[in-house]
Amino acid sequence: MQTSVAIIGAGPAGLLLGHILAQAGVPFVILERSSREHVLGRIRAGVLEQGSVDIVASLGLDANLRERGLEHGGIHLQYEGERRHVDFRELVGRTVTVYGQQALVTDMLAEHERLGSDIVFDASDVSPRGTDGADPVVGYTRDGIRHELHSDFVVGADGYHGICRPSLPSRSLTTYERSYPFAWLGILADVAPSTDDLIYALHPDGFAMHSMRSRRVSRLYLQVEPDASIDDWSDERIWDGLQTRLGVDGWTLEQGPITEKSITPMRSFVTSTLSSGRLFLVGDAGHIVPPTGAKGLNSAIADVALLGRALLEQRAGDDAPLASYSDQALARQWQVQHFSQWMTEMLHVHHEVPDAAARAFRYRSQVGQLEYVTGSQHAMASLAEQYAGLPF
Ligand code: FAD
Ligand code: DHB
Repeated sequence: MQTSVAIIGAGPAGLLLGHILAQAGVPFVILERSSREHVLGRIRAGVLEQGSVDIVASLGLDANLRERGLEHGGIHLQYEGERRHVDFRELVGRTVTVYGQQALVTDMLAEHERLGSDIVFDASDVSPRGTDGADPVVGYTRDGIRHELHSDFVVGADGYHGICRPSLPSRSLTTYERSYPFAWLGILADVAPSTDDLIYALHPDGFAMHSMRSRRVSRLYLQVEPDASIDDWSDERIWDGLQTRLGVDGWTLEQGPITEKSITPMRSFVTSTLSSGRLFLVGDAGHIVPPTGAKGLNSAIADVALLGRALLEQRAGDDAPLASYSDQALARQWQVQHFSQWMTEMLHVHHEVPDAAARAFRYRSQVGQLEYVTGSQHAMASLAEQYAGLPF
């Protein structure tokens, strides 16, 4: 089998790159390890930067997003019982849109199926080779039969646990990472959101956040211990925790049936390069951020926009954008890394610090930071500019 671009992974990054190539008439094949149902069932991120929305729209994939996406002109930052609004529209003239990653993946897959795109689900033992030469090959097994896919380029859109990053020559690779002493417990609940804009709250018990998926479905998160088990968090304990941490005078959190709950570890991770020869990494395959600030999905989209354009320019005879893809994507990514780490440190409680005085000092200085951030036009504008999204 022969194609132009072999894409490994049918997450948001792989599916979006497929659409950029499809629109330009460039042949591609997407190889996905999981089943179609599994890909459609994953509930993850929820906030799209304005630039992400623009790209989805430019590919004509925004019919549902326009109808069901919830545009937000700001967020609430909460601490010490105070809820302060940061108005993105007023500060930087930009907005974000709440639209679940799951919905975006569903839309992109439906359009691929309408176009008849070549997507192979349940592909096991996917293994790229020869990517430093002129004829890369990706081997994979489907229904017990081994296949070989020859291509001009291989794109690793296979997430943090994928096969492509480990396939980069180790001599060219340094990894930078840090973990955090907390995790997020996330729920979906069948209840109308109790807030207009998203709430990010620092509370002595830990961080909490109120997001949403629609006018009838709420998405909420709680900071929990990094080794917390979902079995220890009954629905009642979750609602109590949310009520306490998100509560302010005169406001109550409406509760409803919880339809999904899971715990996500938090990590910052970046590889020193996103390319080697004819292999390119996009999205979580190359970098991970802690979720505070909603940058994971948006970073994947930003990479794909850049790489998609570079692949098209290469076909038109200009190799330079492809050669500079890794440097350009990483330059943007490091700014995003800083923002995500900054939001995370500002809003989470370091329960693990053994010394009570040091713990209290840290907490009080976070409150000071939040007072500054919500009191200074300059600080608020900086937060708004980064949250609504750096240029692609
Ligand atoms: P992925 O979505 O991981 O897609 C990779 C695809 O590659 C998957 O379909 C996988 O099955 C496939 N694959 C993997 N290995 C192979 C292989 N060897 N062969 C073939 N296919 C393979 N971000 C936020 O901004 N906010 C959030 O609230 C948030 N919550 C998250 C919760 C969880 C549990 C996780 C894991 C991530 C979360 N993220 C969140 C991050 C965000 O979802 C990711 O940044 C985004 O999914 C990245 O998209 P991607 O396409 O690069 O990778
Ligand atoms: C959501 C997730 C985030 O990480 C975030 O910062 C905001 C919203 C969400 O899932 O809705």
